[in-house]
This record gives sequence, C-alpha cells and structure tokens, in this order.
Amino acid sequence: MATQNMYSFFLRRLHSLTGVLPIGAFLAEHFFTNSFAMFGPEVYNSKVEFFMGLPYIILIEVCLIWIPILFHGLYGMYIVFTGQANVTRYGFFRNWMYLLQRITGIVAFCFIVYHVYATRISGLLTGQHVSFESVQQSLQNPLILVFYVLGILSASYHLGNGMFGFLITWGIAIGEKSQRALSILCGCVSAGMMVFGLAALSYFA
Ligand code: HEM
Repeated sequence: MATQNMYSFFLRRLHSLTGVLPIGAFLAEHFFTNSFAMFGPEVYNSKVEFFMGLPYIILIEVCLIWIPILFHGLYGMYIVFTGQANVTRYGFFRNWMYLLQRITGIVAFCFIVYHVYATRISGLLTGQHVSFESVQQSLQNPLILVFYVLGILSASYHLGNGMFGFLITWGIAIGEKSQRALSILCGCVSAGMMVFGLAALSYFA
C-alpha cells in the first residue's frame, strides 16, 4: 500500500513537472517560432529548414517533446476519467477553474494528436516538411481554422491555470495573499499566451 502511494505520488509530481518543463516551455517556444510567419514565407520556411536540419533532431524531439507530451497527456486523461469534477456541488471560482483545466486538457489532447500528425508525421512519411504554404492552405478550411483557434485557446488557458496548480503542488504558493497574487499572474500568462498564439496563427490565415 505504501509502495503504491509512493508510486502514485511520484507519477503526480512527474505529471505536474512535465506540464511546465518541458511542455509549457516548448509551447511558448513554438508560438515564438511560428511568429516568424509575420516576416513572410521565405523567412518562415528558412526557420523550419534550420530546425529540421539540427543534428539529432529526431532524438531531441522524442526525448524533449514527444515522450513528455505523451506521458502528460495520457496520465492527464487517466486523472480526468478517474477524478471527479465537483463544480455542481461547490460553485466556487476555483472549482470552475478545476473543471476547465480538465476540459482544456481533453481539447488540447485531440488537437495535439491532429496537429502532430498533420505537420510532422505526415511529413516524415512523405519526406515533405511543413511549410508556410502548406499551413496556409490547410487553414483555408474553416473547420481546421476553428480547430486551431480552439487548440490555441485551450492550450493557453491550460498552461496559465496549470502553472497556478504547479505553484501550489510544489509548495511555492503558500498563504492566501500570495495565492491571490499568483492566480492573477497566472491568469495574465493564459491571456498573454492566447494573444501570442492567435497572433502567430493570423500571419498564416
Ligand atoms: C499544451 C500542452 C499542455 C501543457 C502546456 C500542460 C501543462 C500543464 C500544467 C502546467 C499543469 C499543472 C500541474 C499541477 O497542477 O501541478 C497541468 C495539469 C493538468 N494537465 Fe496538462 N498540459 C498540457 C496538455 C495536457 C493534456 C493533453 C492533457 C490530457 C487530458 C492534460 C491534462 C492535465 C490534467 C488533468 C491536469 C491537472 C492535474 C491535477 O489537477 O493534478 N494536459 N498541465
């Protein structure tokens, strides 16, 4: 029993940590890199070529992006479907945040599966990297555009609100005053990421 508790404690901590590092940091870097689209197709495509040409790129992607996202996403699904959203019993602000954290996790999961397939796996299968033009073309479909908007909004909310959970989980936000201040700061992170992500999307659309 004690071993099982320790095991689940370790998995919860690892889930919490991977949400910020490397996934949260990668999300910010990803929005930043995609912002190069503001300078037009040539500049954007040269950045893609640069990243695709990095030595050990597949190893870097697998270790720093794919495995952490797979672990965080699948364990997150396990938490969602074995936990209880108690928003109907207690209508407090924090309970809505808790429920939204789970809903945005599920939306982000569906979006990431689609996005990784469309922009990376299909490229590996056909040998054709993603480019400014291919992203622009796929966004001509209004359903895909809406899916991107939803994916960006969900991932941004999830990261900002998740950072607040992270600060509590790791005992950094203790006390009512600091929690109130940090919850505002994390709200700003969510809002900032939403603007940052949607701006990057707009350069393609
Ligand atoms: C965009 C990619 C993602 C990022 C940046 C991210 C980030 C985070 C962060 C920072 C936390 C807070 C950890 C804590 O409370 O200590 C978190 C929590 C959580 N994440 Fe994610 N996450 C992502 C994707 C996902 C996906 C795909 C799922 C799948 C459902 C998911 C499910 C969850 C759940 C359920 C929690 C709450 C855990 C708890 O309350 O103990 N996340 N995430």
